[in-house]
Amino acid sequence: MDASKQLIGKIESRKARIGVIGLGYVGLPLAVEFARQGFRVVGIDVDSRKVSGVNAGRSHVEDVPTRELRPLVKDGLIKAQDHYRGTGKMDAIFICVPTPLRKTRDPDISYIVSSVEQIAKEVRAGQLIVLESTTYPGTTEEIIRPRLEAKGLRAGKDFFLAFSPERVDPGNKTYGTHNTPKVVGGTTTDCTEIAAALYRTAIETVHPVTSTQAAEMIKLLENTFRAVNIGLVNEVALMCEKLNLDVWEVIDGAATKPFGFMRFYPGPGIGGHCIPLDPHYLSWKLKTLNYSARFIELASEINGGMPEVVVRRASRLLNERRKSIKGSKILVLGVAYKRDTGDVRESPALDVMNLLQRRGARIQFHDPFNAQVKLEEGVCRRTALTEANLKKADLVIIVTDHSDYDFNWVVRHSPLVLDTRNATGKVKAGRRKIHKL
Ligand SMILES: NC(=O)c1ccc[n+]([C@@H]2O[C@H](COP(=O)([O-])OP(=O)(O)OC[C@H]3O[C@@H](n4cnc5c(N)ncnc54)[C@H](O)[C@@H]3O)[C@@H](O)[C@H]2O)c1
Repeated sequence: MDASKQLIGKIESRKARIGVIGLGYVGLPLAVEFARQGFRVVGIDVDSRKVSGVNAGRSHVEDVPTRELRPLVKDGLIKAQDHYRGTGKMDAIFICVPTPLRKTRDPDISYIVSSVEQIAKEVRAGQLIVLESTTYPGTTEEIIRPRLEAKGLRAGKDFFLAFSPERVDPGNKTYGTHNTPKVVGGTTTDCTEIAAALYRTAIETVHPVTSTQAAEMIKLLENTFRAVNIGLVNEVALMCEKLNLDVWEVIDGAATKPFGFMRFYPGPGIGGHCIPLDPHYLSWKLKTLNYSARFIELASEINGGMPEVVVRRASRLLNERRKSIKGSKILVLGVAYKRDTGDVRESPALDVMNLLQRRGARIQFHDPFNAQVKLEEGVCRRTALTEANLKKADLVIIVTDHSDYDFNWVVRHSPLVLDTRNATGKVKAGRRKIHKL
């Protein structure tokens, strides 16, 4: 029997042994989905705290409840380790390691490279290797394939190679790993088919495409689409300010059109480790082909400038009350990059706070999920959200609209509010104190 038929047989009988490299927001939910289908999954992570947590049945990922992980670990379906020994015994390996940017905003694919170099030591005929980390078109063929083929095995013939982008949206209650359609593209048709067959055991809808490059590009189109549209709506917010219009009213009005319009919201900037970063992977790749990704660069400039817009607005509001930023007490509500998560990676709140501190403001913050944040001037500890603290502030800036907050109450006790998220849209009393982005 040829290698592909053998592997398909192991997938159908759930005898295929699965490895997931990187047990973060992407890897751990994937490991859980496969284990739920009865596969034995070994998770590999260089962070030994995560490894021992998983082996004790404890989840470190908000979207994977401990009560779901624990029985899978107890039944021996999920095991974690902090080394790569034994990857040669696995039938399918999913790589879910980070893909950050360097300080120069160039892709940092060193995590992928180091992971593949480890896998290559034990790669054998009949294995399926799938990259899930977001990256530029060409990574699977140019970076991964040669390293796996170094000992003479051939992708598509001896072993199988594919790229399948991860689309998980942390905190999304409707769409998780199981019901978010999965795009998959392999080095050859066999590679695509085998990877698709494995995903179909755990994921409702699988969408095969003709190459790894197409699959890589699909992910970057999705996130560039978001970054560019957020950039557009942020610019519309700036235009509305000049025209003395309420951008939120304008968006609500446009959204009554049942076709051809999709809502995006302006705000203090973009955060998280996908939307601000991923488009730069594409832009970098195009630079190597002597092409400038203009929409990406423009959106990045507009979105990256929004914290400065917030600070300018804060300065004007204080100025109108004969106050300066220097010496004013400014209370920032919410530091996470989006509502109801604690994630502060790339959060625009940190930029807003740093900019205000540089101008001499006395900064305080509150966030239900973060007791402290690291700013340029050092660690800043959370202030209690009390009537007295709201009253004492010269200005309260709503940066993240966590649903825990009672904005009626916030407005009632604050002297002056700058709302960057339209969180106070429904607040009735005290509207004169509220100023929106
Ligand atoms: N988090 C999301 O919402 C999301 C969504 C879609 C795609 N992605 C992409 O998925 C990839 C992973 O993202 P994430 O959010 O899961 O990251 P993460 O930081 O939560 O997890 C990555 C894990 O990989 C581990 N790791 C690092 N180097 C390793 C190595 N050499 N070997 C083994 N483990 C290693 C880290 O310790 C960490 O636990 C990235 O490319 C990201 O862009 C993330």
